[in-house]
Amino acid sequence: MTPLAELLAERIRRYGPLTFADYMRECLYHPVHGYYSKREHTRFADYYTSADVHPIFGRLLARQFAEMWESLGRPEEFTVVEAGAGVGRLATHVLDFCATKLPAFYNSLRYVAVERSAPRREQAIANLKRHATAGHSAGSSEIPARIAAGGLFSNELIDALPVHRVVLESGALKEIFVDFRGGQFLSATAPLSTCAIAEYFATQGVILQERQYAEAGLEACDWITEVGRRLERGYVLTIDYGHHAAELFDDHHMRGTLLAYQNHRVSEDVYVSPGEQDLTTHVNFTALEMWGKRSGLETAGFTSQTAFLRRANGGGAGSGTPPAQDANPPGRHGRALPSARPAKGLRWIKTDGPGSPFAARLRKTTRNCPLPKFGVPSGRLGTNQTRHRRKQTSSYC
Ligand SMILES: C[S@@+](CC[C@H](N)C(=O)[O-])C[C@H]1O[C@@H](n2cnc3c(N)ncnc32)[C@H](O)[C@@H]1O
Repeated sequence: MTPLAELLAERIRRYGPLTFADYMRECLYHPVHGYYSKREHTRFADYYTSADVHPIFGRLLARQFAEMWESLGRPEEFTVVEAGAGVGRLATHVLDFCATKLPAFYNSLRYVAVERSAPRREQAIANLKRHATAGHSAGSSEIPARIAAGGLFSNELIDALPVHRVVLESGALKEIFVDFRGGQFLSATAPLSTCAIAEYFATQGVILQERQYAEAGLEACDWITEVGRRLERGYVLTIDYGHHAAELFDDHHMRGTLLAYQNHRVSEDVYVSPGEQDLTTHVNFTALEMWGKRSGLETAGFTSQTAFLRRANGGGAGSGTPPAQDANPPGRHGRALPSARPAKGLRWIKTDGPGSPFAARLRKTTRNCPLPKFGVPSGRLGTNQTRHRRKQTSSYC
């Protein structure tokens, strides 16, 4: 048993079964034994994200942030907040490119690399030292309380947020708890631990089928709502694998979407080696849109990562980027995916009070602020592609 498994087993013996959200939170973020709470020693150990593959991803994002800055009227200070920045690899690519190729934007740029894991945050701060010394970057454990003008984005963060698990049994929604019996962790169904789970599904009009398993991403809903509160004027972009609710809960997903990754191997056994394997679920973009709206975020668009990167690369000159057909790095599970992969989405929400994830314009702003590099000035793109292994981008306005 891993050290974390010992601790969790003891906790269950004393206090009873854990919700799956509590189990997943401990597995990924336990302060000592959590998967993400350790320093990154080996690059590409269990997965890699687009940021790991080539600096092109960061360079194209840099161009997108500069476009946001332009669309907001070139504010003197423009804050880019990267939520879940890891060791700061993507941040380094963005900032290095801005410093050399986009000097006017760089002058206004303050980049905050937000990372929950203290060891990884320290690595990020060390990697960004040059830009911090120049007053253009900072590390933080939390999203700033107020972002006056800026863009908040995340790459493969939301699929790593804890979820509750449910199953529909005899017409009733039951929650899946984690029990420990006979020396092993196992699933046990019981009544819902919180009515927020029933509300989660009801709000989206989701009705599960008998024996259908599903996840309720309550933490993602809280996260997007909080982002919306903190962003006063600007954009939100989320990049992740996921679906809208109509697909996420359809009959192709009767077992839910929870998966474990270790050494680039995918497995449904989420109880093996707690703290030593990555756990993820597909992102529910409908929930993000609905909960983001509660704090002023409006959807600006939704498209595939491929389409987004091609458009972002369209300007070309001076980008230092390879041809567009090469501009589609895989996600962190891009080479270990089962056949029914979710799409990876880039979503933008733009708000004027608080903001959220995805791209768009400020809600209190009356003028339209399209983002040409984003490629979706308004409306929605590519939702018919989500069942394929394409990565997607969305925007909201
Ligand atoms: C899958 S990794 C992705 C890292 C990076 N964005 C990349 O593309 O390589 C998810 C990261 O998000 C961090 N994280 C999870 N929840 C967070 C939160 N609420 N606030 C800040 N960081 C968080 C984790 O510690 C982890 O470093």
